[in-house]
Amino acid sequence: MPVTAARVDNVFFEDQQPESGDSRAEVIAGLEQPQKRANPKYFYDERGSGLFEQITRQPEYYPTRTEMAILRRHAGDIARLCGRGCVLIEPGSGSSEKVRLLLSSVRPAAYIPLDISAAFLYQSALKLGREFPWLQVHAICADFADRWYTQTDLPAGRRIIFYPGSTIGNMEPAVAREFLAEQRGWIGADGAVLIGVDLDKPEDVLNAAYNDAGGVTAEFNLNILNTINRVAGADFDTRQFSHRAVYNKPLQRIEMHLVSEISQTVQVDGGAVTFASGETLHTENSYKYTLEDFKALVEAAGYTLQKSWLDDRRLFSVHFLSVRDS
Ligand code: AVJ
Repeated sequence: MPVTAARVDNVFFEDQQPESGDSRAEVIAGLEQPQKRANPKYFYDERGSGLFEQITRQPEYYPTRTEMAILRRHAGDIARLCGRGCVLIEPGSGSSEKVRLLLSSVRPAAYIPLDISAAFLYQSALKLGREFPWLQVHAICADFADRWYTQTDLPAGRRIIFYPGSTIGNMEPAVAREFLAEQRGWIGADGAVLIGVDLDKPEDVLNAAYNDAGGVTAEFNLNILNTINRVAGADFDTRQFSHRAVYNKPLQRIEMHLVSEISQTVQVDGGAVTFASGETLHTENSYKYTLEDFKALVEAAGYTLQKSWLDDRRLFSVHFLSVRDS
């Protein structure tokens, strides 16, 4: 049940309080694994969402600017595939920067940004609504990986999921396939997905993108400890951990870890979690795909890959998927 809802002109905001559920139990369970881990969604508190915005502006972090160039260049093509009056939904919308590149060509009947960070979403939705007064914006604060819902009627129209940023890369490939397959139920037989996917490439380029010289990614990675402290009543000291990001080539993924600088005991929800010196907390995977891998994945999830767009350097890809009939 939406706990709070508000309308300001063309912007409707619904807060489903994604952190009120099982977050504490989930965080603690991750810290109790042999390889300690944290769900990367916990990066995106208000500070973390801001740090991510900063990452996207670092010279080494090519994905965002490359994807935006692809979207800008092919907005007309994308609009033709979407058709007029669609309902565009974006899981993990952040600042809604990318959708701006599509709105005047695609002209959706409604845009539904979904994000876990209430304050960040609220501000972004209001700003977008002011810039595009003809657009109906229906913002929902929820964890898009959970079963979210809205009690308010959404406009009719072809449902299209806009899933840029290679956010799909945070999931194991089998989970990504399952996630995409599940979305078919919500978008229906005439639904579609417009998705951005980072491509496999030489290690040095990948390692640089996740180890920017400005240290912003390191700060972003460490900030997850602040969220864990808040959500799970822990007392992690960010100064006792350091950032590590490295490409795991056989698994085709960047792995981010926080390395314990010393042997230490952290209090978590009344219990104790110990780290050996050099032991890591695994905070993120970011899978990279070849075009062949990704085509196989979407077909296994019940879609047809209708069209793919790449930049000239083949760093990043954007794909239009339609639900396969049969
Ligand atoms: C938004 C999840 C796609 O994996 O590149 C950036 C997040 N992590 N730098 C990515 C991220 C470290 C980003 N995704």
